[in-house]
Amino acid sequence: MKIQFADIAAAKSKLDAVIVFVVGADKKLSPLAATVNKQAGGAIVKALSSGKFAGKLGQYVTVIPSDGVKCDRIVLAGCGEIKKLNALAFEKIGGGLIPHLNGIGAKSATVLLDSPVASPEAAARIAHGAYLRSYRFDKYHTKTPADEKPTFVALTVALANSKAAAKPYHDLEKLAEGIFLTRNLVTEPPNIIYPESMAEECQKLEALGVEVDVLDEPEMYELGFGALLGVGQGSSRESKLVVMRWNGLGKGSKAQPIAFVGKGVTFDSGGISIKPANGMEDMKYDMGGAGVVVGLMKALAGRKAKVNVVGVVGLVENMPGGNAQRPSDVVTSYSGQTIEVINTDAEGRLVLADALWYTQKHFKPKFIIDLATLTGAIVVSLGSSRAGLFSNNDKLAEQLFKTGEKVGEEVWRLPLADVYDKLINSDIADVVNSTNSREAGSITAAQFLQRFVNNTPWVHLDIAGMAWAKKDMDIVPKGATAYGVRLLNELVKEYYEGK
Ligand code: BES
Ligand code: ZN
Ligand code: ZN
Repeated sequence: MKIQFADIAAAKSKLDAVIVFVVGADKKLSPLAATVNKQAGGAIVKALSSGKFAGKLGQYVTVIPSDGVKCDRIVLAGCGEIKKLNALAFEKIGGGLIPHLNGIGAKSATVLLDSPVASPEAAARIAHGAYLRSYRFDKYHTKTPADEKPTFVALTVALANSKAAAKPYHDLEKLAEGIFLTRNLVTEPPNIIYPESMAEECQKLEALGVEVDVLDEPEMYELGFGALLGVGQGSSRESKLVVMRWNGLGKGSKAQPIAFVGKGVTFDSGGISIKPANGMEDMKYDMGGAGVVVGLMKALAGRKAKVNVVGVVGLVENMPGGNAQRPSDVVTSYSGQTIEVINTDAEGRLVLADALWYTQKHFKPKFIIDLATLTGAIVVSLGSSRAGLFSNNDKLAEQLFKTGEKVGEEVWRLPLADVYDKLINSDIADVVNSTNSREAGSITAAQFLQRFVNNTPWVHLDIAGMAWAKKDMDIVPKGATAYGVRLLNELVKEYYEGK
């Protein structure tokens, strides 16, 4: 979808569908809306007083004006209460426009933005929300009938000074590019995105100035990545570890980087502890954590963020081939700790164990945040509204909590404690990869990860309930959400950039 900004004066001369705002319960029209209303012979006011439209955020109504009016449709967009209109609200307004405009068959539309919602920042956020919601993945549909394709292709946001919107929009556009990359990677089927092809996608970030290194199986074997390699050994696809570095503080900068680590299981069949057939197809998105790290790196590099960042993704396919690891195998991780593998479906933590250790050892980061579709148990606990957050550092946990509330990608903290840690002691090795009980499943998984974290400030985000949406949301169409890219981009921007 094409996004443009235009000066109100210029926009008025060639109108398509026009979107005007209605603020609050008293359904006050903006001055421009009042002008359009007059031109349309009072059609807007008439529409406001009939039907259920209450001016609430997320409500839209279409008015068909009489002949002689310059546009063929007028869409009224409710804004809710003026004092609650923040960046997120504007994104939601923009996002909600997309299905509405497609619903009425509009091809293009112009948002007329004026007081009291006329800031360049508001314009940029409306455009961003609309753009994020317009995402589609239809490369594998070869015969969609024309009348089922979305009609809407171009949004213009008109405001007094359109040039002023370009700057805030620039960074948001780069963010959106990262989000779309994540959504594409996560949506692609596992015969297309597997460790090697995903690593190739990472290498494309070199064009933006990201340094990308790919470790292959012999290199990881040499280093002693017994945990990660054990997961991949039942697959005919070669496992990879990809290290992406964005040195936004300059080539010679010695500043400690911040680090993001992602679980990249490109398909999780469960391995020998095989999953039931029903729903197994969902496990293509088990590389969702890695997908977020790649998209985040793209966003940060794209907007040239002033920060040194390392992104590490552990890429494996968990399959039950003849050489697959067996429940009861003992592997030696890169950290030197031995792991008893009693359930080959608890594979994400094995991949992360080596990826986390590698990241700490080689980059000594200021902090590490890992993202993983780690446990079904987190979906039971928190559903699809919040990711589970586990941390050894209150400050970082608090920063993420606040950022989540701000951008609408919320988290909820769960505990780590010795009583849970004890549950993953093994009779034969240092640690076991699963308990035989369903109790506190997300916490014991996090405790396992913590065994591979030294004293680096660390957060683990269990995004199993967040990576994929079963239904459309304001700025996220159903499917791969890229949950986490906006959260972490904002965390970096707010607390770590230029420092
Ligand atoms: N990839 C799954 C977790 C998952 C579940 C992700 C639902 C997305 C949606 C993970 O590897 C897994 O299989 N976890 C097991 C752990 C158990 C064997 C200890 C689980 O949650 O059942
Ligand atoms: Zn699994
Ligand atoms: Zn998994």
